[in-house]
Amino acid sequence: MPIASAHPSQKPAASLEPSGSACGIPLQLQQVTKSYRSGRFCLDNVNFQLQAGAFALLTGPSGAGKSTLLKLFYGAEHPDRGQVLVQGQYINRLRGRALAYLRRQVGVIFQDYKLLERRTVAENVGFVLAARGLAWSEIQRRVPAALSLVGLADRGNCFPDALSGGEQQRVSIARAIVGQPRILLADEPTGNLDRQNALQVLKILQQLNKKGLTVLMTTHDPHLVEIAQAPVWQIQAGRLDPVTPAQPEAAQ
Ligand SMILES: Nc1ncnc2c1ncn2[C@@H]1O[C@H](COP(=O)(O)OP(=O)(O)OP(=O)(O)O)[C@@H](O)[C@H]1O
Ligand SMILES: [Mg+2]
Repeated sequence: MPIASAHPSQKPAASLEPSGSACGIPLQLQQVTKSYRSGRFCLDNVNFQLQAGAFALLTGPSGAGKSTLLKLFYGAEHPDRGQVLVQGQYINRLRGRALAYLRRQVGVIFQDYKLLERRTVAENVGFVLAARGLAWSEIQRRVPAALSLVGLADRGNCFPDALSGGEQQRVSIARAIVGQPRILLADEPTGNLDRQNALQVLKILQQLNKKGLTVLMTTHDPHLVEIAQAPVWQIQAGRLDPVTPAQPEAAQ
């Protein structure tokens, strides 16, 4: 079975019941159309699915709808038509606690980090756990572990403005994973970083993927696409299509 598949002309799943088991197909779009009031069409009758444990990249021109697609998966936007499934559940049908519970399974990383400037690194990472009501002792256990995973074990007491851009982005990765999600959505996580830091962030995301997280990452960077060696999907003019890797030239 392919790691991911998408084609607007594909037949949708026959029934309206979830076609992916909770762990089999963590991210799925069924005939999704999404536009904005501005008249901008982002997705036009798109089908897509990503298998558990996949690492996939999403590219496309600026304004094509990459961030919008991720927003559909973390519930910040709703489709005009069609269904968005996360962990096999129709996210737009969930409310209250059920929605909150599903969202916990999705970690999100943003290009601009979105760190709280007046909180330390450890507080930024632990904030979400405190908001969920986890015991202080559990927060004290999880935060250093998450910071260690991104190579920032010794920076917990710093404030964000004392960190480089690459370090701030790694804090935001720690924040995204500290809640132990199954899915990681990364929206241009390397967009503000130099090459070296971008590679480091890619490596961390790949390591997290090896630990079992399903990762969907948007990027503009062709170099990153090349070295990531991951399936690539392109959004353009409302379509979402797999990008066929270039065939290696025949040996001379
Ligand atoms: N809340 C909104 N209201 C109206 N239009 C929006 C909204 N959010 C996005 N758009 C429009 O939808 C289109 C897709 O936006 P989106 O941010 O998803 O693109 P993108 O592919 O992520 O672009 P970029 O590479 O620049 O980040 C753009 O034309 C944008 O202006
Ligand atoms: Mg974007």
